[in-house]
Amino acid sequence: MSHSIARQRDSVRYRSRLMQPEAERRPDTHPLTWRLRDDGGVVWLEEYLRKDGYQSVRKALAESDPQAIISTMKDANVGGRGGGGFSAGLKWSLTLQGGDIPRGYLICNADEMEPGTFKDRLLMEQQPHLVIEGMILAALANNSFYGYIFLRGEYVTAARVLSRALDEARAGGWLGRDIDGSSFDFDIALHTGAGRYICGEETALINSLEGKRANPRAKPPFPGQSGAWGKPSVVNNVETLCNAPGVILNGAEWYQGLSGDRTDDGGSKLYGISGLVENPGLWELPMGTTGAEILDRAGGMRNGRQLKAWLPGGASTGFLLPQHLELALDFDTVGKEGSRLGTGLMTMVTQEQSMVALVRNLEEFFARESCGWCTPCRDGLPWTVRVLRALALGQGEIGDIELLEKLAADCGPAQTFCAHAPGAAMPLQTALRHFRSEFAQGISEPRIKAEEG
Ligand SMILES: Cc1cc2nc3c(=O)[nH]c(=O)nc-3n(C[C@H](O)[C@H](O)[C@H](O)COP(=O)(O)O)c2cc1C
Ligand code: SF4
Repeated sequence: MSHSIARQRDSVRYRSRLMQPEAERRPDTHPLTWRLRDDGGVVWLEEYLRKDGYQSVRKALAESDPQAIISTMKDANVGGRGGGGFSAGLKWSLTLQGGDIPRGYLICNADEMEPGTFKDRLLMEQQPHLVIEGMILAALANNSFYGYIFLRGEYVTAARVLSRALDEARAGGWLGRDIDGSSFDFDIALHTGAGRYICGEETALINSLEGKRANPRAKPPFPGQSGAWGKPSVVNNVETLCNAPGVILNGAEWYQGLSGDRTDDGGSKLYGISGLVENPGLWELPMGTTGAEILDRAGGMRNGRQLKAWLPGGASTGFLLPQHLELALDFDTVGKEGSRLGTGLMTMVTQEQSMVALVRNLEEFFARESCGWCTPCRDGLPWTVRVLRALALGQGEIGDIELLEKLAADCGPAQTFCAHAPGAAMPLQTALRHFRSEFAQGISEPRIKAEEG
């Protein structure tokens, strides 16, 4: 089977499912998904326009005040949905512009290769014009003259849908010269990646876009100062950009109110769940919804299985325990528990699953996806895999747990060139913290086994 056919089959087999019926989704409470149809069909331009599509762009162009867009986004405090939570408005306020600084690029990060994550895919496959509308607003705010959607190569359905939507937007006057009769010009190209996780890191993405090897770049300079082809560039996640139209149309106060008194972070979020639960899928819920509510919406664990641990937002976040299900899933609360909100899509682990085998699987992924630049990541991650493989086979040696702790610490924050290594370290460190005895059982020497336990 050719590589491209395998990719297409994958894309068809795994659907990104929104679990809330149309009747439950309203414009004032579900800004990301209220336009989606129950049949899962694409909301093309005509339907999108009927459902208030591109009204935020019309409003912003009529007001012709990029600074106002930035300050509304800053007040709304839309935390970056690519996993870091950095305020989109703040990022936009730091982009170099004005004077003799050339107009730059607006890049939509649609690489979505974080294991357990399938939220951007839903937005792109079913509502491509919301992505485009968010990009136009960001371009206006950042004075970008051209945009790129950097799309994960395997997302063939999203590629097809986005291509047609870009054509529709051009034909409808929402892209190209003099958008909606204004003097603002902006167009977007779709760029499909070759399927490497590191391409999601924003500076590696820029290198890849330029046709170079996808190694992360040194920061500073940040992309907002010097990004693609040396020009000021803004990189935002798909879901982050999809928040902008609602904020610009309805204001920062409305956005902040969406999360009620659950959390200080405003807005709604595409939360999701996978693993052995009854109904894996996605929901648009207020920011700060608890893990317990999401698990409940998924119908609980499959066939009454017992939950052992869970990852709150992808493979590069830290394991949490069943008692953490009552916590608000926001950036600060999850951070305080030694993990990260990440992408906000939970992966559930049952009592029967081996933590050693699971972590080995994750570290194999991270080791394979290292760009190879920094020693702790390039050499350390394959070493953790070797140790974890031995432990999984019950052939571990005395000192293996300490060795894993050392290798993970070497990959910690500020030890390597990008956040790939700290992301790889987090599930390992938290699994060792919470389930040390499981790792100790993989050591063949009985005396040490007793001590470690
Ligand atoms: C190894 C690695 C992979 C990443 N992959 C993605 C990705 O697929 N999508 C994404 O939006 N951000 C990804 N990020 C985060 C980006 O570097 C960047 O912070 C993000 O696109 C900024 O957008 P936001 O502020 O809207 O979240 C990744 C980071 C790292 C270190
Ligand atoms: S941490 Fe890993 S992925 Fe990031 S630059 Fe270093 S070697 Fe590359």
